Amino acid sequence: MTALQELFLKELEAVTSTAALRELRSRYTGKNGVLTGELKKLPALAPHERAAFGKQVNIDKVFIEKRLKEHEQVLTTKEIKAKLSKNPVDITLPGYYKKPGGRHPVTIVLAEITEIFVSMGFSIEEGPEVESDYYNFEALNIPINHPARDMQDTFYIENTAGSQSNESAFVLRTHTSPVQIRVMEKRVNESRANGTPLPPLRFIAPGKVYRCDSDVSHSPMFHQVEGLVVDKNISFANLKGLLEGFLQRVFGPEVPVRLRPSFFPFTEPSAEVDMGCYFCKGAGCRVCKGTGWIEIMGAGMVDPRVFRNVGYDTGKYSGFAFGMGIERIASLKYGIDDIRLYYDGDLRFLRQF
Ligand code: DAH
Repeated sequence: MTALQELFLKELEAVTSTAALRELRSRYTGKNGVLTGELKKLPALAPHERAAFGKQVNIDKVFIEKRLKEHEQVLTTKEIKAKLSKNPVDITLPGYYKKPGGRHPVTIVLAEITEIFVSMGFSIEEGPEVESDYYNFEALNIPINHPARDMQDTFYIENTAGSQSNESAFVLRTHTSPVQIRVMEKRVNESRANGTPLPPLRFIAPGKVYRCDSDVSHSPMFHQVEGLVVDKNISFANLKGLLEGFLQRVFGPEVPVRLRPSFFPFTEPSAEVDMGCYFCKGAGCRVCKGTGWIEIMGAGMVDPRVFRNVGYDTGKYSGFAFGMGIERIASLKYGIDDIRLYYDGDLRFLRQF
């Protein structure tokens, strides 16, 4: 054993931690370490001594590295054992179970509705839930004395300015129809700014709506999907074809669809859209009140007054609109008979979807 090896072993014996070992390793094998120092002696030696000296330094290096490695292993094992005995890990304890979440039935049905309309070339639009009287009523041709404005149905936002006039009133939107007005207006402004054509317009607008109403079939907040199509030569037949196609994708290709004359201030003519009762297949049951039909949405041709309110040329364009309640569709799909179940947050209900 060389003197260098002997000196190293003595130092190694005194090392009892991996930290001290790191220090020793760097002192011997590091860039400015003992071994490098040995090699630096080479140029000073007589040429015939150099080969043997170099060889010896190499042997020392191999020896030192091997011992360092062995000692490191011993120390690491010892340190891990010490750590574990201080902080024991009980591997028999049960782990933390993370309950997976799920999508709410309203979210599931909305996603399905959205996908169907997007596949038919519709885009998605949104509007504010706190809406002005103008967009929620006025522009949609809902006159000042219309029953839909009744305090019973509409949540009014407190008018802090103290003004009594209707124009400055704000409400929680009672339907998604105001998005029709907002999108058509936006198009007019874009058209004025950069000459883009007004129609074609083809979008749906899903979102929350609010009404002062609460029982098994009414909730103060619920969801609607509005739809609007405006172009040249849009007809009532286009409306019927679209809604039939839509309902058959949601409820099955066999489901019959019919349109019944109705009234909405913002469409003319207006229709109530019925589909064959999902439960009794038309035979008549409790859900369809014996009629065999279920009312599923409102629709109609855009009233010329609405077009005029947003500055569309009624001689050039026509269009149709429709609006449906998402909870209603979900209730029919899943056979849910109390709308309040959607908002109670009862996991036993929600886990079923
Ligand atoms: N806004 C109506 C409501 O909330 C639903 C509706 C009916 C929307 C006919 C429409 C429509 O776009 O054409 O009861």
